[in-house]
Amino acid sequence: MNFEEERIISPELEDVQEERIENTLRPKTLEEYIGQNKVKENMKIYIEAAKKRGEPLDHVLLYGPPGLGKTTLANIISNEMNSNIKITSGPAIEKPGDLAAILTNLSAFDVLFIDEIHRLNKSVEEILYPALEDYTLDIIIGKGPSARSIRLDLPKFTLIGATTKAGSLATPLRDRFGIVHRLELYEPADLATIVKRSARILEIEIDEKSALEIARRSRGTPRIANRLLKRVRDYASVLGDGNIDLKITKLALNHLEIDEMGLDEIDRKLLETMIVKYQGKPVGIETLATTVGEEIDTIEDVYEPYLIQIGFIARTPRGRIPLPEAYSHMGFPFTEK
Ligand SMILES: Nc1ncnc2c1ncn2[C@@H]1O[C@H](COP(=O)(O)OP(=O)(O)OP(=O)(O)O)[C@@H](O)[C@H]1O
Ligand SMILES: [Mg+2]
Repeated sequence: MNFEEERIISPELEDVQEERIENTLRPKTLEEYIGQNKVKENMKIYIEAAKKRGEPLDHVLLYGPPGLGKTTLANIISNEMNSNIKITSGPAIEKPGDLAAILTNLSAFDVLFIDEIHRLNKSVEEILYPALEDYTLDIIIGKGPSARSIRLDLPKFTLIGATTKAGSLATPLRDRFGIVHRLELYEPADLATIVKRSARILEIEIDEKSALEIARRSRGTPRIANRLLKRVRDYASVLGDGNIDLKITKLALNHLEIDEMGLDEIDRKLLETMIVKYQGKPVGIETLATTVGEEIDTIEDVYEPYLIQIGFIARTPRGRIPLPEAYSHMGFPFTEK
C-alpha cells in the first residue's frame, strides 16, 4: 500500500479532481500571488527589464518542496510576460528527439515549462545545453561514417524549470539558469490569506480565526491549506449550516488526526522514534526511513523541511536530532545530552 495516497497532509497532488480545483484556485498575476515576497520582488524587476529591452526573460529555475506554488509561479511569469506557455515534464521527455520536436515547435518569446526537471535523462539534457545557451539545436543526420551533424537556430525562448530536488540537478544544467529561486514554506499569516482567498473563490463562508487555524495546521504549504479548507467545509455542511467557525474547524481537523502543529501520525512516529528509541542521539536518514516505512526522498523532501522549520528537529553532520520543542510537544521531558 502506498501510504502517501492516504495521507491528508501529503503535499503532493492527490488526484485529477484535486488538480482541477487547483487550477481554479491558481492566482494569475504576481499581484495575486501571496507571500514569497523576495521571489516576487525579484521576478517583477526581471520581467519589467526584459520587457523594456524587448527580449525574452532569462531562464528561470524554481525549486522547493511540493505544493508551494512552483507551477503556479511558472504560469504567472508567462502571463506577466504576455507569452504562451508550453508545459511538459522531465519524465515525459524520453528521447533527445522528443525534446528536439518540442524546441523546434516553439515561437519566439514562448515559455517552456519543464516540471520535475531533475528527472530529464542525460542524453536529453545534452540537447538542452546549446538550446539554452545560444538557442541552437545540434542534430545528427544519418548513421555510421556518413552521419553528420547540422545546427539549427531556435527561436529565443525562456525555459522555466521546476524541481523539488535542486541537489540532483547536474551542475552544467543548473548553471544555465540566469534566475534561480528557492520557494520557502509559508508563514501562517500568508497561508490564512490564501485560505480566505480560496474560500472566496469556492464560495465558502469562513471567519478569520478558522482561516488561521487551518493555516497553522497546513505545514507551511498552500496545497495542504486548500485541501484542509475543503475537508473542513464538508464537516461544516454535514454537522452545521455550512459556515465554517472555529469549533467546526477544530473538530474536523482533530477528526482528521492533524494536531495543533499540523503533524500527523507519521510525523509523530518519526519524533517518537528519535526521542524514545534513539534517546535523542543523532539518527541517520536511512534508519528513520526504515522505521516509519517511508522512502528516504519522502522524508527529506516532505517531512523534514517542515519539522526543521518549526524547530522540532535539526540536521547535524552525524544525523538528525530532536530539539527541546519536539520533546515538549510530544509530552516527553527533555534531557541534556
Ligand atoms: N503564493 C500563492 N498564493 C496563492 N495560492 C497559491 C500560492 N502558491 C500556491 N498556491 C496554491 O497551491 C496549490 C499548489 O500550487 P502548485 O501546484 O503551484 O505547487 P507546486 O510547487 O507546483 O507543487 P508540485 O511540486 O507538486 O508540482 C495551487 O492550487 C495554488 O493555487
Ligand atoms: Mg507543480
